[in-house]
Amino acid sequence: MTGGSFSRVGVVGLGTMGAGIAEVLARGGLAVVGIEVDAGALERGRGHLEGSTGRAVKRGRLTEEARAEIIGRVRFSTDFADLGDCDLVIEAVPERLDLKRKVFAELDRVCRDDAVLATNTSSLSVTQIAATTGRPAKVVGVHFFNPAPVMRLVEVIGTVLTEPGAVERVADLVKGLGKTPVTIGDRAGFVANRLLFGYLNQAANMLESGHATRDDIDTAMTAGAGLPMGPFTLMDLIGLDTCLGVLDAVYDETRDQRHAPSPVLSELVRAGLLGRKTGRGFYSYGKKDAEPEA
Ligand code: 3HC
Repeated sequence: MTGGSFSRVGVVGLGTMGAGIAEVLARGGLAVVGIEVDAGALERGRGHLEGSTGRAVKRGRLTEEARAEIIGRVRFSTDFADLGDCDLVIEAVPERLDLKRKVFAELDRVCRDDAVLATNTSSLSVTQIAATTGRPAKVVGVHFFNPAPVMRLVEVIGTVLTEPGAVERVADLVKGLGKTPVTIGDRAGFVANRLLFGYLNQAANMLESGHATRDDIDTAMTAGAGLPMGPFTLMDLIGLDTCLGVLDAVYDETRDQRHAPSPVLSELVRAGLLGRKTGRGFYSYGKKDAEPEA
């Protein structure tokens, strides 16, 4: 069975990552409860899911019927109480510890005692989030990559407080969804971001120092190193606020200068230029979530 020991999964927060995760779960045949704060955010979340599955239909990867079934498996709600019958809930709200703590306190209150609670954080401590609940043994990190429906890796993070069974169950779910899990401990950046962001920050520092242009750096890494996206296109896709959050967290933990955020990145974030999602980051986009226009 696709979901392993899980059959009904909640997703809290239906932004880019949450909606992508909800899509992956629904494609895997699971019943999904998608939660957002208000009706407007819920509609935007539904829009992400419709857009992503609509693109798959256009490309001939999905039939209209299959698309309708996938979306039909998601129950959209603004009421946390609807998570009461879930056996796993994945939180994907913005990367603020105060907000995540609030969400986990609420999840702890409404979810069954045996439910596993997971955070999709990319930069916060899973341990700190777990410690705010009355069930830290059942709290794990489950870190999807952007875009979630496409990227195969999911990092499954256990803390010193997590019971091993919870990590195993989530890793089995990930496998059942056709993704590849790696199971790791709670260290800033986990594995992939710890390695990836040293490189992304180095690219930003090369731009900052006038070593090379944005376009030449991106071209060098796509045409020369065979990567699907150059570092600036990728940072714009990830979101520059998220990039800064990951760098700050890794730098705080390691004091490794490679992760001291590049000034150009901090400046763009201060200006509210966060990448594709705001229409401008290192590149400008004609409309949000479009291809770079330079
Ligand atoms: N949602 C759903 N599907 C998407 C998608 C999206 N947002 N974007 C692309 N796709 C699908 C397309 O539909 C297409 O599917 P198909 O082959 O079945 O038709 C496939 O992905 C390829 O897409 P395109 O042909 O449009 O474009 P590309 O070939 O340029 O691929 C890409 C796009 C998959 C995003 C590719 O450029 C890529 O792999 N980029 C690197 C992404 C990456 O490194 N992500 C990790 C970032 S780090 C992270 O997320 C961690 C966090 O904590 C910061």
